Amino acid sequence: ASTLGASAAASGRYFGTAVAASHLGEAQYASTLDTEFNAVTPENEMKWDATESTQGVFTYSAADQIVAHAQAQNMKIRGHTLVWYSQLPGWVSGLSASALQSAMDNHITSLMTHYKGKIYAWDVVNEAFQDGGSGARRSSPFQDKLGDGYIEHAFRTARAADPNAKLCYNDYNIDGINAKSTAVYNMVKDFKARGVPIDCVGFQGHFNSASPMTSDYQANLQRFADLGVDVQITELDVAGSGTAQADSYTKVVQACMAIQRCTGITVWGITDKYSWRSSDTPLLFDGNYSKKPSYTAVLNALNGT
Ligand code: G3I
Repeated sequence: ASTLGASAAASGRYFGTAVAASHLGEAQYASTLDTEFNAVTPENEMKWDATESTQGVFTYSAADQIVAHAQAQNMKIRGHTLVWYSQLPGWVSGLSASALQSAMDNHITSLMTHYKGKIYAWDVVNEAFQDGGSGARRSSPFQDKLGDGYIEHAFRTARAADPNAKLCYNDYNIDGINAKSTAVYNMVKDFKARGVPIDCVGFQGHFNSASPMTSDYQANLQRFADLGVDVQITELDVAGSGTAQADSYTKVVQACMAIQRCTGITVWGITDKYSWRSSDTPLLFDGNYSKKPSYTAVLNALNGT
């Protein structure tokens, strides 16, 4: 097929992008989105600071705009993200343990109820593990006050709120086999063994020279799939340009295509000009919405050509 979305759909997969509500009014942004992609992830609009900046007062307008656009285009929607240490309003860290537990439950249940039936997969918990060799959990209000059990509690609460949404754990620097990915692997294995509801793991895929894509990438995705969860590439972007960048994209897409349970790929933005790391020119379209070599590489890899 001749677009990213249609090419992914030919093998039952989706090809998505992060989207910002504030750009939907830009004609080229919207037309590139609608032509090329069949899934979206709100880049910031569903995060805690955007949806519940004051306790108990929920603001959905920006996220609703993206959801309405995606639904009108028949696109899948990934919900991002319910429980994360970052972009967390100040009031959350001031709560006692029991109040924090209630606030977390209420946040999860409120968002998932508002979007019930509309979300393909939710990043229920995001970035809960530390970088480096320890495999330890990252400090956060949730970890520090509620302990390790907050993650499974979040997943159980999420399953009750929208039983039809896939529930994902999402993180970065877990793309290859390393101490951090193994810590996540062990958590998922434990969840599956004990019946904690988890359906998918999101591998963000933010690659650059300091954290490159490694040769064990496919093997790492496969070991998670073998636990009985879907794997998704959720925030893909690759610093660089030209052939080197295109080759990295090819390898990532080929790895997903080789794994039956790799259900889709999301790039973290449409055009380099709006990327969170714009100076790395990490995306598939340049600042003028021209297709880069990385675009052609992805299209060919999706089509197996
Ligand atoms: O909304 C405010 C706006 O009101 C204000 O005027 C402006 C001035 O700085 O800031 C705006 O907020 C910014 C927000 O993006 C929306 O544009 C924040 O400062 C900025 O920090 C925020 O960055 C986002 C970042 O997450 C925050 O952690 C990026 O857009 C977003 O791409 C990035 O996405 C994360 C994923 O959620 C999780 N994985 C890593 C990934 C990359 O960091």
